[in-house]
Amino acid sequence: MEALAITSLSAADVAKQYEHISELGKGTYGKVDLVAHRTQGTKMALKFVTKNKTKLKSFLREYSLTGSLSCSPFIIKVLDVLFETEDSYVFGQEYAPAGDLFDIIPPQVGLPEEMVKRCMQQLGLALDFMHSKNLVHRDVKPENVLLFDRECRRIKLADFGMTRRVGCRVKRVSGTIPYTAPEVCRANRAEGFLVTTSLDVWAFGVLVFCMLTGNFPWEAALPTDAFYEEFRRWQKAGCPVGTYPSQWRRFTDDALRMFQRLLSAEPEKRCGVKDVFCFIKYELVSELRRRASHRAKRNERSRTTCLRPAPLKRSVLSDPLSPREESGQHQTSGRDKNKSQMVMATAIEICV
Ligand SMILES: Nc1ncnc2c1ncn2[C@@H]1O[C@H](COP(=O)(O)OP(=O)(O)OP(=O)(O)O)[C@@H](O)[C@H]1O
Ligand SMILES: [Mg+2]
Repeated sequence: MEALAITSLSAADVAKQYEHISELGKGTYGKVDLVAHRTQGTKMALKFVTKNKTKLKSFLREYSLTGSLSCSPFIIKVLDVLFETEDSYVFGQEYAPAGDLFDIIPPQVGLPEEMVKRCMQQLGLALDFMHSKNLVHRDVKPENVLLFDRECRRIKLADFGMTRRVGCRVKRVSGTIPYTAPEVCRANRAEGFLVTTSLDVWAFGVLVFCMLTGNFPWEAALPTDAFYEEFRRWQKAGCPVGTYPSQWRRFTDDALRMFQRLLSAEPEKRCGVKDVFCFIKYELVSELRRRASHRAKRNERSRTTCLRPAPLKRSVLSDPLSPREESGQHQTSGRDKNKSQMVMATAIEICV
């Protein structure tokens, strides 16, 4: 049984040990800084998680989970750097020098198909690895995919703050993002829902759509969303050939078959994430259909009947309460509030 020790450092100690280079990102729970270790010279990303938003137990769970998955070449590696400051819990990760996937998706255009396929392959393997360990990421989105080069030849899945074990009951947070599966959008807030790998499969389907188009397919998978409703009507009608929903006209029949399986409304009918691998050999976007779909949209727009597709934006869940604290099973203990120099927690305690 591995024990985790978190040492306390003052801001001055941190500055003494690490040279601050830049801020890499700001998330719901804190920030990520690029630093260099002053004596070893190694660059690393330090993730600062604000104490008033996250309990120690949840922070240690994220750290230990990331560590347990780090053996996959498609998952970000954690370093043996773990400490707390006055207001944050902090851990070190390998630095991804090319930023995140969101930054390189050209809005309303999308990425070249070959790049999308490289991402599908690597992310599919990362998620399949997690799913084989009965873990569900629950926050698959381009902001959580880190790049080691701008061509996406080496990418890694990151941010395991929401990861839970299959079968765990979690509460639904208020608000949804475009990657949220319909069964979660509908879930009763009090009862919550059971975590399944199909949640990641849905988000992965939405992510592939975003990469190929530079738009969201919808803002929320809810009947009140016109784009989602159009897609659902088409699905319910048995996905008839030739009458595709407006956002989907550019795709080949093979791509539409793939999306059908990833974005099945019933979670139990959704395919496994590795089922996309067999579609990578097919053409996904048809140039001919893309041009025809642009022409049709221009005409529709001039008659003002066409809804504008939802432009990509960075997505965060809007709940003021941290979803990291949501599960009754993972309530924090009073011990988290201790301000001791050294806090010990066993990996088994913090495991999901
Ligand atoms: N190892 C890293 N190398 C380079 N950039 C990173 C690294 N880790 C994080 N980032 C950047 O910082 C951003 C926020 O990181 P992360 O997703 O881990 O934090 P978060 O607070 O959990 O975010 P959110 O909850 O909003 O998804 C990422 O989207 C990415 O742009
Ligand atoms: Mg994130």
